[in-house]
Amino acid sequence: MREPSRLAVLGAGHVGPVIARLAIKAGYPVAIATSGDPEDIALITELVIPGAQPRWARDAVADADIVVLAIPLHRFLGIDPALLDGKLVVDAMNYWPASDGVLEPFEGRGSSEVVARRLAGSAVVKALNHIGYHELEDRARPAGAPDRKAAGVAGDDPAAVATIAGLLDRIGYDPVRLESLRAGRVLQPGGPVFGVVLTLPEFERAVRQDARSLA
Ligand SMILES: NC(=O)c1ccc[n+]([C@@H]2O[C@H](COP(=O)([O-])OP(=O)(O)OC[C@H]3O[C@@H](n4cnc5c(N)ncnc54)[C@H](OP(=O)(O)O)[C@@H]3O)[C@@H](O)[C@H]2O)c1
Repeated sequence: MREPSRLAVLGAGHVGPVIARLAIKAGYPVAIATSGDPEDIALITELVIPGAQPRWARDAVADADIVVLAIPLHRFLGIDPALLDGKLVVDAMNYWPASDGVLEPFEGRGSSEVVARRLAGSAVVKALNHIGYHELEDRARPAGAPDRKAAGVAGDDPAAVATIAGLLDRIGYDPVRLESLRAGRVLQPGGPVFGVVLTLPEFERAVRQDARSLA
């Protein structure tokens, strides 16, 4: 099977365009979509994400190998799981009750595990959720750079995790693989690596020291 390479980024708010820009720079063809008409984001896409193709979400997903969910979690609940069937889905979302409202299915749980249960026909990988959008772009460095930082990737499908580890590497981060979506709870809000940008050894140490990684 060929390496998946076409990205659909769902979400054109804060983090979606940054992920799209980094991916384009790394050589991936990228389509970007909101829940609405691509015409509405055509100009801003041209200016802010040159090279990305604004598309209807359904069309962007249909042609993609990798779909990045960069939308608020409460909006995710409105997506028909069939749309994402058969796709490698990167869950870059976080559960923020302050902005999402209280979402009962996500209370006290690993948000990506809930996402994966809803997307039973997709391979769900948690990544790109734990670094703020400004830093995600500013801290990206080529492989081997002395000040390169790490980014986590978690999933239950080793091939999907390997693919997204490759994506993280290409966009500018040393990937740290976590062996399951459950282990990926360390990446979510309140976890030891959320909102801090760490080197590979610092990241691995923080994860090791966190009791949740052993649960
Ligand atoms: N902000 C960060 O630094 C950051 C970093 C990492 C991860 N995250 C996570 O990423 C998610 C998005 O955060 P954000 O700050 O980028 O949000 P945001 O600025 O509010 O942008 C959300 C985007 O999602 C689009 N959208 C909503 N429903 C959609 C759907 N069904 N299909 C396609 N697009 C849809 C919105 O457009 P329409 O409403 O027009 O459809 C909008 O462009 C959150 O879960 C957040 O926790 C954020």
